[in-house]
Amino acid sequence: MKITYHGHACFLIDADRHKIIIDPFLRGNPLSKIKPSDVKIDAILVSHGHADHLGDAVEISKNNKATIIGTFELVNYCIEKGAVGHAMHIGGSYNFPFGRIKLAIAHHGSTTDTGATGNPCGFVITMGSKTIYHAGDTGLFSDMKLIGEINRIDAALLPIGDNFTMGIEDAIKAVEFLRPKIAIPMHYNTFDIIKQDPKLFVGGLKGSLTKGIILGAGEDLEL
Ligand code: NI
Ligand code: MN
Repeated sequence: MKITYHGHACFLIDADRHKIIIDPFLRGNPLSKIKPSDVKIDAILVSHGHADHLGDAVEISKNNKATIIGTFELVNYCIEKGAVGHAMHIGGSYNFPFGRIKLAIAHHGSTTDTGATGNPCGFVITMGSKTIYHAGDTGLFSDMKLIGEINRIDAALLPIGDNFTMGIEDAIKAVEFLRPKIAIPMHYNTFDIIKQDPKLFVGGLKGSLTKGIILGAGEDLEL
């Protein structure tokens, strides 16, 4: 499995000849080096309706006939805009051709240009033999212990930007709860208000069983 970071909360996962993208905020993302038209993909996971996550999902769905996966209200919003969608909800899982997706809670909001779009979520993604947890935008919550207990997480993708989500201190606590093999920071340095030094996050994991890995935009990691 290969995970490529495209800045902010956007990751592309490539496994067993299937490709999925999460929170494809590309156009308008100062960190992204790719355009929506560069994305060739099977499915699109969207954690919530905020523009820095929904991003270019509808356009990418139309270009690739790729399914948008997320909570019911947001997916229906995307379908109305002409996308292909598969609605789910918190706690539910589904076996897609590329792998299994389970929706986790996230403590945050979810609005689009037309108003509220239900609850935000995080994703537990199983492709091949690997399991990835993408937390979405969220504050720290103790049920992360449950997510870590139920799943053997190979990589946890966690926001560290603070202000809108967990900051570094809480993200380090999240790693303690989730016990992943690897933790990758996200949702920082895109805008001034979420400026953070990711080295402090990685440094805070020293002595734990989890290895912190910083990916720059466009960089990838083989799992
Ligand atoms: Ni948000
Ligand atoms: Mn966000």
